[in-house]
Amino acid sequence: MFCDLVGSTALSTRHDPEDPRELIGDYHRAVTETVGRFDGFVAKYMGDGVLIYFGYPRAHEDDAERAVSAALAVIEAVGRLPAREDLRVRLGIATGLAVVGDLIGEGAAQERGVVGETPNLAARLQALATPNTLVIAEATRRQIGELFDLEDLGPQQLAGFAEPQRAWRVLGESGEVSRFEALRSGETPLVGRDEEIELLGRRWEQAKSGEGRVVLISGEPGIGKSRLTAALSARIESEPHTRLRYFCSPHHQDSALYPFIAQLEHAAGFARDDTADAKLGKLRALLAPGTRDDHDIALLSELLSLPSSAADLNLSPQRKREKLLEALLNQLEAEARRRPVLMVFEDAHWIDPTSRELLDLSVDRVRHLPVLLAITFRPEFQPPWGGLSYVMNLTLNRLGERDGETLVHKLAGDAALTAEIVGEIVERTDGVPLFVEELTKAVLESAGQSDRVTAVLGAASHAAQSVPPTLHASLMARLDRLGPAPKETAQIGAVLGREFSYELIEAVAQRPERELQAALKPLTDAGLLFCRGTAPHASYLFKHALVQDAAYGTLLRARRREMHARVAGVLEQHFADLVERQPELLAHHLTAAGKIERAVDQWLKAGQHAAEQSAYLEAIAHLERGLDLLQSLPESPGRDGREIDLQLALAGCLLTAKGAAAAKPPYMRAFDLAESSGSPQQRFDALYGVWQATNMSGGSAAASPLSARLLSITEDEGDDGLRLQALHSAWATSAFAGDPAKTREHTDAGRLLYDPEKHASHRFVYGSHDPGACALLLGAWAEWLLGYPEKALASSADSVSLAERIAHPFTLSLALTFGAVLHLNRREPERALSLAEAAEALAAEQRLSLPFEPGMVHGAALVVQSAAEEAIARIREGVTKSTGPGRPYGLAFLAEGLAQHGDLVGALAALQEGLEIARSSGEHGWDAELHRLAGTVLLAENKLNEGQASLQQAIRIAQVQQAKSLELRAVCDLARLWGEQGRRTEAHDLVAPVYSWFTEGFDTADLKEAKALLDQLA
Ligand SMILES: Nc1ncnc2c1ncn2[C@@H]1O[C@H](COP(=O)(O)OP(=O)(O)OP(=O)(O)O)[C@@H](O)[C@H]1O
Ligand SMILES: [Mg+2]
Repeated sequence: MFCDLVGSTALSTRHDPEDPRELIGDYHRAVTETVGRFDGFVAKYMGDGVLIYFGYPRAHEDDAERAVSAALAVIEAVGRLPAREDLRVRLGIATGLAVVGDLIGEGAAQERGVVGETPNLAARLQALATPNTLVIAEATRRQIGELFDLEDLGPQQLAGFAEPQRAWRVLGESGEVSRFEALRSGETPLVGRDEEIELLGRRWEQAKSGEGRVVLISGEPGIGKSRLTAALSARIESEPHTRLRYFCSPHHQDSALYPFIAQLEHAAGFARDDTADAKLGKLRALLAPGTRDDHDIALLSELLSLPSSAADLNLSPQRKREKLLEALLNQLEAEARRRPVLMVFEDAHWIDPTSRELLDLSVDRVRHLPVLLAITFRPEFQPPWGGLSYVMNLTLNRLGERDGETLVHKLAGDAALTAEIVGEIVERTDGVPLFVEELTKAVLESAGQSDRVTAVLGAASHAAQSVPPTLHASLMARLDRLGPAPKETAQIGAVLGREFSYELIEAVAQRPERELQAALKPLTDAGLLFCRGTAPHASYLFKHALVQDAAYGTLLRARRREMHARVAGVLEQHFADLVERQPELLAHHLTAAGKIERAVDQWLKAGQHAAEQSAYLEAIAHLERGLDLLQSLPESPGRDGREIDLQLALAGCLLTAKGAAAAKPPYMRAFDLAESSGSPQQRFDALYGVWQATNMSGGSAAASPLSARLLSITEDEGDDGLRLQALHSAWATSAFAGDPAKTREHTDAGRLLYDPEKHASHRFVYGSHDPGACALLLGAWAEWLLGYPEKALASSADSVSLAERIAHPFTLSLALTFGAVLHLNRREPERALSLAEAAEALAAEQRLSLPFEPGMVHGAALVVQSAAEEAIARIREGVTKSTGPGRPYGLAFLAEGLAQHGDLVGALAALQEGLEIARSSGEHGWDAELHRLAGTVLLAENKLNEGQASLQQAIRIAQVQQAKSLELRAVCDLARLWGEQGRRTEAHDLVAPVYSWFTEGFDTADLKEAKALLDQLA
């Protein structure tokens, strides 16, 4: 069985094979002892070779660095073996994921198998090394930054590797730069942090005047503490001052005064091959003139392991230590007397005890010196200097979203990243600049390979590689430090998701309550998990998405599947209500568990559930996941049945969210599948969908036979639901086609069948709107055309209140839009405008795509109000955007607006365009108006014959369509012409019968105008 773990670095050492066998025991012991000090583990002894790994069972953020340091120490240790001067060792290091097996054997012979490419590469590199040298892989080099001096060996062709592998020889520790400079680029411009810089600037001013200041800069790893101190340094660069920098190191927490020693060596400019005398000279030159105290120099020389006369001072060890610290403080003080000092003390969480004591003294000493002392540390360090008046705390928080985005853009430079990718990076990195940097770099490296970008971001798959390798070690180190139980708990949590409840993890973890809580606590204490509430009602959130990813990434594939299957089981058995509320949760776990068929069914449920909440975009995403998964199932009728359901549900959502054109392909696909292997219901639904998409994309002529077929297959089926929908298709087709009488007949029949409770589900299935409300709103359209403006008004009002009652946004948006249309027809622009605006607002809020382009209706209302210029722009935009029915209607209003504006040519062109669309699509419902308006425009152009012919054509069409309201308008226009031509009686007789046909609507503008005209002609 494999452990869940990945060794990050393998180190293979092999002493010179010429050496006799009996040396091997000593050699093994030396290697084991040496690497043990760096927390490395021996996986295998193989004759004169040793395979070692770092990062397991405990990961450290600096495993690569540990491995390199350990290797250098091994060279030294082997060289020191008594009487073995001729023994030499060659080493190789590679970095990458490896699977570590169980312990095999017993006692000293125990070993673990390490599998993977990484140990192989390490062995090949080791073979490349010359005696007493170390060769490392490119991946290892990246992790150690510039901490070591290296020689580039170039790309190497190695057995077992297809691609040449770049290799580097390690020359030794560089010691020249800080950890920050060695490991982090720091090249991008500083983002944000204005206040912090400002504040540090002020402290510096105060310090310069002789009142020393201490600033304690704390924050989690990678938040930008070092970067902030670098920014301060840069800011005061041009001022005369001395900068003293001290760095603690994770490997030197037990070496006394390490940061002070390193600072002195660095400041004095010691080179690796300087002789002791040369170094002594450099030290003397460094020490400020004021401290050329011989005692101090002796003590400091001793500290730096240089020849020294300190022994002659005759001091007790205790006294000597005091004197040494005093000498170091004197150094600082002497420096400060010359010039103001910026003293940066980095990473105090790794401080050794003696340095800690000296730092305490320094904090005390700087109070009356022109010194600004900035101490950085991570939150685990508890600074004791909090209460002092000249000491200030500065806690760095994560960058805000905007700053995060800026940082990504600055890092990406000219490489264009989509807003989506930028957003994803910002989200996954939670405003920690280091994470932003690393993830952006990882994404950029994989740019051009969109699959890899997704994998790097780990959006859907949570692949192990979603965490950049440079971060993996540090994130794992944080988990590992806490011990096996918390780590395993974090892994379970990672499987559950970024956020999970105590109840859920308890059910999945299968651990006693006390144990589980004891395992969770260190995770929250370490800030890896946030906890809200107290168990058993607590919920947990991974502080960083990347911590979750890292924990998840350590699970082997088989184990992941098993865990997801377990979670799925627990959800189904014990969390039915959660599954009901969030069906996609179960779908996700079933998918990750590899239970494809059940996962597909669950994605369908998730899609339907989201659609019922009108969350169409989410629904579309869920349904598309289901369809993707379906690809991996073998051909079978069961597979097809599932696909039909998914395609139908998807098409329904697309229809609402993106419009008919988007919905048509999935409907067609469902229809094709249903013809051969669907149930009667599926066949009906697919045919209905094809009809719907056709009709709504402005194809009345093509929709007609589809609707007729729906009517015929439901004629004797006795299913009133399907019959209702067949009627629905019929009224919607005839309404646009220009047959209001048929429309009314079908809507009346539909209203009789409709029951809001019984047919509640229809509004989520058929065209995503309620058939009852649709019967009312298109019924209103028909009633007005047929000459019943009051009945139409009542029906429209009913449709709005029904839509409100059932609280269905898409239905409501339709009811409002058609309400606006009715008021337009009644020439009531204010009411029309307010309804159109309400529909637009609703559509924007709910992200709906309306079948009638709302801008068109809005513009039309403005035309009627005579706000021609704005109206023209609006309608034009609406007509251009519109893909559905209503374009002829919109063009009629556009023409009216243009004519009002004096653009008669443009008006005529718009009318011709409308008639052209009507001819090609079969949407003839507004033909009479198009001809009538053309008539008035032609008359205005003084083309009397043509104008009259157009008006007569309008009258004929209106009569054929029984569109009384349109007939009335057309006869009035013609009568006006005749009146002007002196044919008053004829004109009167033309209008009178049409007008007197009306039984209602006498206070609408059209009827009032007709009445006035009649009076005038009488
Ligand atoms: N405000 C910022 N604008 C641009 N880059 C930043 C900013 N803050 C930090 N960075 C970058 O993020 C990386 C991490 O920052 P830094 O090394 O300063 O973190 P830190 O808090 O010192 O971490 P550690 O605790 O590990 O020392 C660096 O490469 C740094 O340049
Ligand atoms: Mg730092």
